[in-house]
Amino acid sequence: MNIPLVDLGKQYAPLREEIMERIAAVLSGMQLFLGENVQALEREFAAFCQAEHAIGVSDGTAALQLILRAMEVGPGDEVITVANTFVATVEAIVLTGATPVFVDVHPDTYLMDVAQVRSRITPRTKAILPVHLYGQMVDMVALRAIADERDLWIIEDACQAHGAECEGRRAGSLGDAAAFSFYYSKNLGAYGEGGCVTTNDGELARRVRMLRDHGAERRYYHELVGWNSRLDELQAAILRAKLPHLQRWNAQRRSHASLYEALLDGSPVITPVTAGGNCHVYHLYVVRVPRRDELRAWLQEHGVGTGIHYPVPIHLQRAYSDLGYQRGDLPVTERVADEILSLPMFPELQREQIAYVADAVRAFVGASAPVEIA
Ligand SMILES: Cc1ncc(COP(=O)(O)O)c(C=O)c1O
Repeated sequence: MNIPLVDLGKQYAPLREEIMERIAAVLSGMQLFLGENVQALEREFAAFCQAEHAIGVSDGTAALQLILRAMEVGPGDEVITVANTFVATVEAIVLTGATPVFVDVHPDTYLMDVAQVRSRITPRTKAILPVHLYGQMVDMVALRAIADERDLWIIEDACQAHGAECEGRRAGSLGDAAAFSFYYSKNLGAYGEGGCVTTNDGELARRVRMLRDHGAERRYYHELVGWNSRLDELQAAILRAKLPHLQRWNAQRRSHASLYEALLDGSPVITPVTAGGNCHVYHLYVVRVPRRDELRAWLQEHGVGTGIHYPVPIHLQRAYSDLGYQRGDLPVTERVADEILSLPMFPELQREQIAYVADAVRAFVGASAPVEIA
């Protein structure tokens, strides 16, 4: 059996006709930027996220940069975040001229360890940037309490968390602003690049809206130095066809996760932990295993696609060496990076496929001498 990490063709097949019609309509109208699809998607995605404003942008990285710029984060400022993330989180901070300050992740969820945040706050701290990695939200209630003590901004990196919830509130509604990616493999993916900023702050929304379009509210009248970071109409039209299915797709992902958990129970594999009050949307199904690289090769031999998200934490990446971190500075992040493995996860996955993957994993870990995970 061949089971890829993600199979996007399976999602496209039943939507093909509708998507083609929407693409044809955009091309007939020939309004390719900032037209009715982007505006409608912004309304629909804001409602989905329980946020007041949504601003369509070119990608998730731009969403993070636009938010930071709109908040006037820049040289001399510090932004508290994590090193267990996709590089874009940290890239966006560094490109503003501000300094990322890393806290370690929690050993159960691999998300920002909120209990460590207070100790990293300095007079230069301007914002906290939690990453809702793998589809699970950081504890935003606890984080909000900390941020409010010092009047700090909270920016959610929700690029992997469309529809995730913390205490009944959706990702994108609890920070001062949130960045979403519509990269094609995300829970809500475009067929190209795409992203979105959500916020409940009208002034921030206005600034992000200007910054994504060369700093102008009115064409050729530039109030701010901005970028060209617009979401295009074709991608917005495709995303509008997909958004009504997102809740169902997320529920299917949760059901697959429950099946994996049941099938891997009693093995040395550590399955994902959902923190209390959270609703996980399993963008990725990340387990922790002894001899990760050997298991990965074994699964590949047996036709199972896997991934590592992410193999090298950002504080140990060469590009970020001048931040001055060393191995040992973030022990949980570093240990986890050597042991995590993403198993196939997409809504259309079949029960037999999950059973096959779980059997292959069990055969490997059962065949090996038991190894304790520290
Ligand atoms: C956690 C995280 N942050 C930021 C990004 C950047 O999004 P994009 O690839 O759309 O620029 C991604 C996407 O891969 C991500 O997973």
